[in-house]
Amino acid sequence: MHVGWSQLVGLDLASSVQSGQLQSLDWHPTIADNQVSTAIYGRSMSQSEETFYDDMASSYHLIFDDWDKAIERQRAVLVPLMAAPDVLGTILDCACGIGTQALGLALAGYDVEGTDISNTEVERAVREAALRNLDVKFRVDDMRLLSTCKEQHYGTVVAFDNAIPHLDSDEEVAKALAAMLRSLRARGKVFVSLRDYGTLLTQRPTVLSPSLFIDNGLRRIVHQVWDWQDARRYTVHLYITRQTNSLGWQSNHFVGRYRAITPDEVATLAARVGFNDVQVLSPTVTGYYQPIVTATAP
Ligand SMILES: C[S@@+](CC[C@H](N)C(=O)[O-])C[C@H]1O[C@@H](n2cnc3c(N)ncnc32)[C@H](O)[C@@H]1O
Repeated sequence: MHVGWSQLVGLDLASSVQSGQLQSLDWHPTIADNQVSTAIYGRSMSQSEETFYDDMASSYHLIFDDWDKAIERQRAVLVPLMAAPDVLGTILDCACGIGTQALGLALAGYDVEGTDISNTEVERAVREAALRNLDVKFRVDDMRLLSTCKEQHYGTVVAFDNAIPHLDSDEEVAKALAAMLRSLRARGKVFVSLRDYGTLLTQRPTVLSPSLFIDNGLRRIVHQVWDWQDARRYTVHLYITRQTNSLGWQSNHFVGRYRAITPDEVATLAARVGFNDVQVLSPTVTGYYQPIVTATAP
């Protein structure tokens, strides 16, 4: 099987490579035009930067090689970073999406609450938890406010898979970190993972290499195009293209917006809002595919 790989929206493909489930190869699609019938669903439908994750909720798992395996892989990396379930207290996943981390942590025996700004993703997370007989309380909340979350309550707050760069300024990131700090009990820990934007801010890539997955003999290609708006902000065009039979293809197009911020900059803001012991953990230390900023509440 030929497989190409790129880091997606902060998505779990690098860990797939690390775990040996994908091989990182130079891969270029070689599909003759006359063999392809393609349906493109793009911005003419509901897709917009404002509804990126609402639009993606039913397709989000398709950016992973195998979503259930991704849940397991991420759980195996995250659990060693955390205290045992009986001493940790409740974990708040404040950018839970469809539950990639929240479900895995619940499967590992943790008491987990999940919040996200996307109502459609939260609805899917609720369904995914029910399918797995997991008692995770999912609800809609904005990580800049966490107004549905108790203060000084959680043992750990997590925001994984590049959620923080959806915030549009340093002030918004600081506001989110301050809300996380408020919700943590004394000496509780925050863990935030994000893309390592350091070199990307210099290179300003406009397209990332595609990833190829095979589902029951049918190909699935995931790739991104980035349109830079200024020195930090870019619009991402995410395409999920699936072979429907030997001749047919269907492509879905999702549009989102990011503001690049480096892990060190997030760490500086964490210290500024009052966290102690702020550290940036590299992927070589944690085994996670992105750097993780961690810090402790006083
Ligand atoms: C790349 S997704 C990761 C989702 C989840 N961690 C997972 O892996 O399944 C980023 C998430 O951040 C959420 N998000 C963006 N801005 C947010 C905000 N202000 N408050 C809460 N969630 C937000 C999005 O809705 C999306 O679910």
